[in-house]
Amino acid sequence: MAFNLKGRSLLTLQDFSQEEISYLLTLSKDLKDKKRAGIKGDTLQGKNIALIFEKPSTRTRCAFSVGAKDEGGYPEYLGKNDIQLGKKETVADTARVLGRMYDGIEFRGYKHQTVEILAEYAGVPVWNGLTDQYHPTQILADFLTIQENFGGLQERKLVYVGDGRNNMANSLMMGSAIMGLNYTIIAPRELWPDDALVKKANLLARDSKATIDITDDPVSGVKDADAIYTDVWVSMGEEEKFAERIALLKPYQVDMEMIVNTDNEDVIFLHCLPAYHNTETDNGQKIFAEHGVKEMEVTDRVFESKHSKVFDQAENRMHTIKAVMVATLGNQ
Ligand code: CP
Ligand code: NVA
Repeated sequence: MAFNLKGRSLLTLQDFSQEEISYLLTLSKDLKDKKRAGIKGDTLQGKNIALIFEKPSTRTRCAFSVGAKDEGGYPEYLGKNDIQLGKKETVADTARVLGRMYDGIEFRGYKHQTVEILAEYAGVPVWNGLTDQYHPTQILADFLTIQENFGGLQERKLVYVGDGRNNMANSLMMGSAIMGLNYTIIAPRELWPDDALVKKANLLARDSKATIDITDDPVSGVKDADAIYTDVWVSMGEEEKFAERIALLKPYQVDMEMIVNTDNEDVIFLHCLPAYHNTETDNGQKIFAEHGVKEMEVTDRVFESKHSKVFDQAENRMHTIKAVMVATLGNQ
C-alpha cells in the first residue's frame, strides 16, 4: 500500500509509523530493482536539494547525491566552511533562506536541536543525516539488509554491541521498537542508553511486540542472535575519549568467538561504517599505536568473513535515502 508522505521531514524514526517505515522499505527495494535494471527515474525532476554537513561523511553524502541525481534532482553540498549556519547567522535564519531556494534539506551535524530548528523554519522537508543523538536513515538501510537476509524483521534478534548510548544504538533501539524486532544492547553499564529513551522504546514495543534488553554480558547476550551490530567506540566529536573507551570496550570487541557464541551458523554481522578493523588507515595506525591495540570494535577476521554484510548495507544507504527523498518530495 502506498502512503502519502509528501512534505514530511525525517528527524527521527519516531516521526513515522510501522506501516510508513514498511512502505519506505518496500519503495527502497523497488528503487534498488529499478537501478539494477538500468532504469533512470525522474520523480525528483526540478527539485533542488541542499546537503549540509558539519561533520564529514562518505556514505550519507554520496547516497544523497547519487540518489537525487538518479531521479533527476539537483543536489548541492554545503560543507561546514561553506555557509554561515549558526556562526554569523542563526540556524532559523539559514533555514528560512534555504527553504526559499531549495525543495529539501539534508543536515548532518552535532546538536539534534539544529535539525529540529531547520525543520521548524525551512518550510520544506528536512532529513537527518546524523546528529549526536540519532542516525535514522542508517537504520532504514540496516533494516533493508536484515529483510534481504531473513525475509522480514518481526521477532528477529538484533544485538548491538559496544557504545550503547550513541546515535546508532539509540536509533536502532527506536527502530526495533517500532518494527517489532527483539533488540539487545550489550555494553558496559557506563555506556547504557538514557533511561528516558529506553522508556519511550518500551512504550512503542508494546504495540509492535518488540523486546528491548540491556545487558553487560557479552557471552549470554549474543545467544540466538540473527544479527550482530557494532559501531565505532568513539563517535565524531568525541575524539578525546579514545583511551577511556578502549579500556571500557575491549571485552566487547566483535570477534569470531562472539560469532560462535550466537549458536547461529547464519548470523550476519552489520556495521554502519566507517570501521576500525585493521591498521591500514592513517588514523587507525596512529590510534592503535598510541593505545597499544591492533583492532577495535570488530576483528578483521569477522569483518572479512562470510557473515559480514557491511557492503550490502552501505549500498542500501543509497536505495533507502533515495526512497526517503522520493516519498517526501518526489512526483510519484
Ligand atoms: N554510515 C555512515 O553514515 O557513513 P558516513 O559517515 O560515511 O556517511
Ligand atoms: N556513531 C558514529 C556513526 C558514524 C556513521 C558517529 O557518530 O561517528
